[in-house]
Amino acid sequence: MMTNPWVKDFPQLNSGMCYLDTAATSLKPLSVIETLDHYYHDLSANIHRGMYHAAVETTQLYEETRETIARFIGAETEEIIFTRGTTSGLNMVAFSYGLAHLKPGDEIIVSELEHHSSFLPWQEVAKRTGAVLRFVTLNEEGRITVEAFQETLSEKTKVVALTYVSNVMGFITPLKEIVSLAHDTDAIVVVDAAQAIQHIEIDVSDLDCDFLAFSGHKMLGPTGIGILYGKQNLLQSMEPFEFGGDMNEDVEKGQSTWKTAPQKFEAGTMPIASVLGLKTAVEYLQSIGLKQISEHIEKVHRYAIAQLSQIDEVTIYNKTSETGIISFNLSDVPAHDAITFFAEQDVALRAGQHCAKLICDWLGIHSCLRASVYLYNTYKDVDRLVEAVKQAVKYFKELGF
Ligand SMILES: Cc1ncc(COP(=O)(O)O)c(C=O)c1O
Repeated sequence: MMTNPWVKDFPQLNSGMCYLDTAATSLKPLSVIETLDHYYHDLSANIHRGMYHAAVETTQLYEETRETIARFIGAETEEIIFTRGTTSGLNMVAFSYGLAHLKPGDEIIVSELEHHSSFLPWQEVAKRTGAVLRFVTLNEEGRITVEAFQETLSEKTKVVALTYVSNVMGFITPLKEIVSLAHDTDAIVVVDAAQAIQHIEIDVSDLDCDFLAFSGHKMLGPTGIGILYGKQNLLQSMEPFEFGGDMNEDVEKGQSTWKTAPQKFEAGTMPIASVLGLKTAVEYLQSIGLKQISEHIEKVHRYAIAQLSQIDEVTIYNKTSETGIISFNLSDVPAHDAITFFAEQDVALRAGQHCAKLICDWLGIHSCLRASVYLYNTYKDVDRLVEAVKQAVKYFKELGF
């Protein structure tokens, strides 16, 4: 038996749903929902512009969030940019930094583990600049190793864009060694931390990466908000990605000037409620501690792998994953057919290519099912998943699969 003290904080679970889809988006604790309610109910003001009470309080909470996030990842406040999510943060780096710095023949290192958000912006920038994409060879399990990275790295490498944790395989990339090697050749390292931030303690000053992006909605926060961390010298040297209100210093008919980072990267009205909600989400995570969260994930994950491995018809692609992501298929049953069966049991999984087509190609599969466990999951959720898998196997066998 496992008593989970955190389940009660997540009202979405009151319906009895078995939620195993945190890798797509996490549930939101009541405290985050209350923060959103407070903003819309009591404040509803814009930031930076008004002198009235609600505007001043909103601005203060908005900037306090930046400080909270900076402390959470070991950054300076000025290095924290609010974005729409991981996707927009990674696009900002590719198009603001990449387009300006890359030239024909320069190399960008990526991997087949990348989410499309970490791959497509660089593919596009490579096309526009004449730079060349190089792929780290994955080992037999599908992991990025330091040795393989070293073989891909060259004097021509200017950008390394890698995921911290793959959203299909759940493997943790050995980033510290990779960053150090990349810096030896003066390449910058851009980290996609969308699947890491909610359970790995990240200290960017220790990791020494140049950029790091993540999404609020995968770490108990609201949708529509994300963070791009960037080293101060790089951010100050970059041109803004979007132009508009609140990011300018002086505006003249012929020429205008911009504020310094991070403000020059936050044009227009930002998702204020979501920013405030993200602060509450981080405070909630800190009240438990990421170490305790990852230990909990590990226990539930290990139990799930042990149970699922006993079912002959289940093929698991990432048994050795050190995070909560389990990618699998049921014999030859197309994942999209299988998922409808799970939906009927109110077991929330995901089916498809998970915006990571290259790793599906590498695995030699069209698509797969993905279950992902997080702090609010219990052994009981795993039991429900396993029971649903057994029933699905029986059902599809009867249909001739
Ligand atoms: C590894 C990884 N990178 C990037 C993203 C994109 O995140 P968002 O859609 O929040 O921008 C995701 C989302 O699934 C992800 O799992």
